[in-house]
Amino acid sequence: LKQEALNKVENAESVQNLKDVRVEYLGKKGPITEVLRGMGKLSKEERPVIGQLANDVRESIAEAIETKQSRLEDAAMEKQLEEESIDVTLPGRPVQIGGPHLLTSIVEEIEDLFIGMGFEIKEGPEVETDYYNFEALNLPKGHPARDMQDSFYITEELLMRTHTSPVQARTMGARNGGEPVKMICPGKVYRRDTDDATHSHQFTQIEGLLVDKNVRMSDLKGVLNAFAKQMFGAEREIRLRPSFFPFTEPSVEMDISCKVCGGEGCSVCKGTGWIEILGGGMVHPNVLEMAGYDPKEYSGFAFGMGPERIAMLKYGVDDIRHFYTNDIRFLEQYHKA
Ligand code: PHE
Repeated sequence: LKQEALNKVENAESVQNLKDVRVEYLGKKGPITEVLRGMGKLSKEERPVIGQLANDVRESIAEAIETKQSRLEDAAMEKQLEEESIDVTLPGRPVQIGGPHLLTSIVEEIEDLFIGMGFEIKEGPEVETDYYNFEALNLPKGHPARDMQDSFYITEELLMRTHTSPVQARTMGARNGGEPVKMICPGKVYRRDTDDATHSHQFTQIEGLLVDKNVRMSDLKGVLNAFAKQMFGAEREIRLRPSFFPFTEPSVEMDISCKVCGGEGCSVCKGTGWIEILGGGMVHPNVLEMAGYDPKEYSGFAFGMGPERIAMLKYGVDDIRHFYTNDIRFLEQYHKA
């Protein structure tokens, strides 16, 4: 019996095998337990002899199991270490390196340009009150021009801002009617539009505002001219056309001259030779007044542009949806090496 058990121990190939052997020989239903249980039936002389023998057998089997178990465990550990060893000579896997999104780059480029002209960067909330998005901009409730910007309302008094112009009112309002303002504000805006190649229900704008004493239309033109030439090239011209916005008077739209054809961006600039890039004008006296400025003392100009449109014109992007569908093949073209 002992030899049979020891053989099985020796041949056990796994810790589980070994457990089975232990149960088989040393368990409650095993032969040794049985022998010990039957001791009562033996004679006085036989008892110690058989008892001793049974105990010896049990001990040697237990010992053999233990030795075998630690050997099996060692082997398993060794095998694991061997399999998991790291080959430090393998070449590394190349890591895909990303880059800034085209829109991010354009916004930063425009920011840098205006910082260079002394403007500061401001931000405002995307969930805006009806007051700042419309009323403070000379668009009282029921004003027909509110329809120019179909809105996502959240409650009667809260909406997703339809433009970055509310940041004009917020910035002026925070200056207590005394100090000049010279800021730009980039950010996301939302309109209830059906998405297509030139419309998106969410896009970005950059607002500009300069308020001080004696600010004139020619100041607006000068700043925008400097912007256009730095952004698109010194050979480009600008022109201002009359337009309408409730918060500026007079209001203008600015066009830039098309690039001489044959180059980048030409396809989007055919026809008249001019292409519209932004809206602006002189801050309406009502807007100044509501923000706490005396329109007899202060004047200002404001403008708003869409970085998507600027990027489309600059790089000849033909569909605004490219900015949001995140096709890596589109985005990678604009990563700087
Ligand atoms: N907020 C206007 C728009 O979204 C743009 C604009 C800004 C016009 C500032 C004039 C002055 O269309």
